[in-house]
Amino acid sequence: MEISIQKAGSLKDLPDESELAFGTLFTDHMFNMDYDLDNGWHNPRIEPYGPITIDPSTMVLHYGQSIFEGLKAFKTPEGEIQLFRPEQNFTRFNQSAHRMCIPAFDEEFALRALKELLKIEKRWVPSAPGTSLYIRPTIIAMDPFLGVRASYTYRFFIILSPVGAYYKEGFNPVKIWVTEKYVRAVPGGVGEVKTAGNYAASLYAGEEAHHKGYTQVLWLDGVERKYVEEVGSMNIFFVIDDEIITPALSGSILSGITRDSVIEMAEKWGHPVTQRRISIDEVVEAHKAGKLQECFGSGTAAVISPVGQIKYKDKTLAIGDGKVGSWARKFFDAITDIQYGRTQDTEGWVHKV
Ligand code: COI
Repeated sequence: MEISIQKAGSLKDLPDESELAFGTLFTDHMFNMDYDLDNGWHNPRIEPYGPITIDPSTMVLHYGQSIFEGLKAFKTPEGEIQLFRPEQNFTRFNQSAHRMCIPAFDEEFALRALKELLKIEKRWVPSAPGTSLYIRPTIIAMDPFLGVRASYTYRFFIILSPVGAYYKEGFNPVKIWVTEKYVRAVPGGVGEVKTAGNYAASLYAGEEAHHKGYTQVLWLDGVERKYVEEVGSMNIFFVIDDEIITPALSGSILSGITRDSVIEMAEKWGHPVTQRRISIDEVVEAHKAGKLQECFGSGTAAVISPVGQIKYKDKTLAIGDGKVGSWARKFFDAITDIQYGRTQDTEGWVHKV
């Protein structure tokens, strides 16, 4: 398919890179493509960034049939632009599409379209430390219809946003709150795919966490409310008595690409990650015994994010003296060195644009 290109009449000023937050600014252009039953995915185009005008009855607004991805473009010291494991994002995007009754798209084509868009938006990829261009592919249901069924028409779009750290703490340890009152997802549900509703479902507990002075919620399993699942914006790892542990994918946990990268690296370094069920009581007990050495999250937006405090019921677990743990540091350095092209990519994870 030919991608048509319509350039913006005027270009925005670039932001001050030292002030970049997360997800507040958007570039000059976006990618759009439509789906209908007669034509399949068609009319791929790069256009000026701007509002999508939709009918108030559009299905996505009512029933939340929508999916998204998150990946990043990085600038190397030589000024080249590169992506980190983007094919994994598009594969997962199609898995999300399948679960949400959205028609599959051609992954190779989507990656080509993204690269075309990035070539046009090259000047937006920041180079200040810790900054990147966040990429948000999204698909929304477009039928103007109020009955509950899968839509017959869709819009696929990609928008780009120059970003700094996801958490205001940057790489400093964050504080997380464990809720046993609310759940994010259940086995058989949609917790393992990237659909808007999972994030909407997390907001209420997220607000409670903020009121209590915590950055994020650590979710327990939806059935027994006992086993650790994920943080919503990131997967979670513990280091207990020198064992690196992350919850096994249970059907209600998102299969993170950074999570997978950590697991692959640790394996290569001869210190494999154990993927298993881990109860919050085990974490509390390990802390009591002085064996909880580290806790950190992993995600595209969050990269590697050290956790300095976990609140569960009346217990406050302080981890690592407010300092970044050595495993978190090691994974952060190794992953970002590859992402920013400061080291040789021996894994084939990097795609040049
Ligand atoms: C990401 O890490 O890209 C995410 O999607 C998490 C969050 C910003 C929703």
